[in-house]
Amino acid sequence: MGAGIAEVFARAGLRVIGVEADEAALSRGRGHLEGSTGRAVARGRMTAEEQAALLGRIAFTTSRDDLAGADLVVEAIPEVMEFKRGLFADLDRICKPSAVLATNTSSLSVTAIAATTSRPAQVIGMHFFNPAPVMRLVEVVRTVVTEDGLPDEIAGLARRLGKTPVTVGDRAGFVVNRLLLSYLNHACALLETGLASRDDIDAAMRLGVGLPMGPFTLLDLIGLDTSYEVCEVLFRESRERRHAPAPILRELVTAGLLGRKTGRGFHSHD
Ligand code: CAA
Repeated sequence: MGAGIAEVFARAGLRVIGVEADEAALSRGRGHLEGSTGRAVARGRMTAEEQAALLGRIAFTTSRDDLAGADLVVEAIPEVMEFKRGLFADLDRICKPSAVLATNTSSLSVTAIAATTSRPAQVIGMHFFNPAPVMRLVEVVRTVVTEDGLPDEIAGLARRLGKTPVTVGDRAGFVVNRLLLSYLNHACALLETGLASRDDIDAAMRLGVGLPMGPFTLLDLIGLDTSYEVCEVLFRESRERRHAPAPILRELVTAGLLGRKTGRGFHSHD
């Protein structure tokens, strides 16, 4: 999602520093941005000059130290608390004292992430939805220690990005994933009972409810690893069996079939 979020900020005229872990990831991110803005040009939604200007506002780097002068950092790394805590401790050391550190976490505790820094009042959730350039919502996640006024400031920024913000408390899954992943996990469980096929469940929810995508197509878009992690966190917090990740989800993640990003999940994506 990092590339999509970078695109959203650059579209709004803001300068962005895109940081990736290594050169391979950086080149994938750059390719993603070129592809996404290239499609907008092909569809007449953007001129080639606007695309060049947008891409020119993004600096690509593999060095976190380049974030020293940033006003805001939006973290979008995998949903593993250990990684997040390590990164935020680093960002706290690197970034200037006034910088706000935001996380795009889908489900992890923003409070626990904030606690690894010396500036917990300036740590906040800024949760985008996939694909970030298209989906209009941003969940602004405040914790008990978030500075007064910061949620409103981040909500204002989200509006400047063309998004609609909602402010939510720091509970697993926030609003959208709490409701959405219960449904998606239930769809997996239903598939396992043999009640209907993958394609028929997808078609049923798309055509019967008017959703843009059926549950398995959407799971592949979100990423099965992220979906699995969200279910795990919901299960750990609630201890309700219905939130336990469906076995098929675990099986696919273990096999490395993570959805669109790996070319195969519930569906194949060539
Ligand atoms: N990046 C940038 N733009 C994209 C894109 C991407 N990955 N995918 C599609 N688009 C753009 C297209 O360029 C097109 O733009 P224009 O209208 O300006 O031409 C527009 O989106 C529509 O795309 P398409 O016509 O190709 O396809 P579509 O009409 O089927 O829409 C979709 C695609 C927007 C993804 C739609 O199927 C959809 O809304 N699906 C549901 C997505 C959803 O629910 N996301 C939330 C997931 S939950 C989550 O992300 C939270 C979490 O933490 C897990």
